Amino acid sequence: MGVAVRPTAPRRWFRLSIPLVIFALLLLYLSARSLGARSGCGLGAQACVPGGTAPFQVRQESGPLEAPERKEPPCLGPRGMLGRMMRPFHASLNPEGDVGLSPYLAGWRALVEFLTPLGSVFAFASREAFTTVTALEARVHGPDAEHYLSLVAMAAWERRAGLLERPGEAPRDPARSSGSRTLLLLHRALRWSQLCLHRVATGALGGPDAGAQCSDAYGAALGPHHPWLVRQAARLAFLAFPGRRRLLELACPGTTEAEARAALARAAGTLEDVYNRTQGLLAERSLLQLA
Ligand SMILES: *[C@@H]1O[C@H](CO)[C@@H](O)[C@H](O)[C@H]1NC(C)=O
Repeated sequence: MGVAVRPTAPRRWFRLSIPLVIFALLLLYLSARSLGARSGCGLGAQACVPGGTAPFQVRQESGPLEAPERKEPPCLGPRGMLGRMMRPFHASLNPEGDVGLSPYLAGWRALVEFLTPLGSVFAFASREAFTTVTALEARVHGPDAEHYLSLVAMAAWERRAGLLERPGEAPRDPARSSGSRTLLLLHRALRWSQLCLHRVATGALGGPDAGAQCSDAYGAALGPHHPWLVRQAARLAFLAFPGRRRLLELACPGTTEAEARAALARAAGTLEDVYNRTQGLLAERSLLQLA
């Protein structure tokens, strides 16, 4: 192995990854609610009820869903945190089968916004995540903006221009990562969020608590890509993870548990759509090995 590990690399990793981890947790909250906002209806969350059933009545594979309320909870509405996050994520799935970077980042930005008020740990994390998102935004709005409209365009351009890192090699300065690599980090955090949200939404009463479920999701989605130090930090962050009830409340305040679970499941579904498409596009271009 000719790769020289620089002594400062773990620290950089730490600084970069921790926020993503905590971030992902936040995503969970967010996504939980936003899911409801979309699921086939694009923007107007209230106007998209097929067949006149309640917007909240989501078909669910797992677990009974009572959905006693017919009104859509505010968390899924245009001004709800989740609604505001899920709309741009949904919009990033463009008709050509590509992923629009601007809406994708807008989704992340809403997520960060959601995280910030959640406590000091999250405030720290969201600041870091903000940095990562900002780095990619700088490219999307920078002098080469024409090449950063979508994932496909960005990957092609960065490859042509020789901007891609060699597989597995972290850039010296994370702030100067290629756009493709930055996206990959966000992509993995998105996966984690999606898995957590789904598990929190569908977890059985009396089953493993939300922290354990999301910690497992971390082990599946992010842990393998993180150095030891970051994994330990993540483990600590999970100790402060809210319980399921609290999570559902944060995701969708003022509704019943059934509604909050339904909203969360829909949010997870939206994230899964975005994740699946991004994953396919990155894989086709051999970009999953970038970091
Ligand atoms: C995402 O991809 C997985 C694996 O290919 C598939 O099982 C799943 O149904 C997909 N999810 C969505 C929402 O399309």
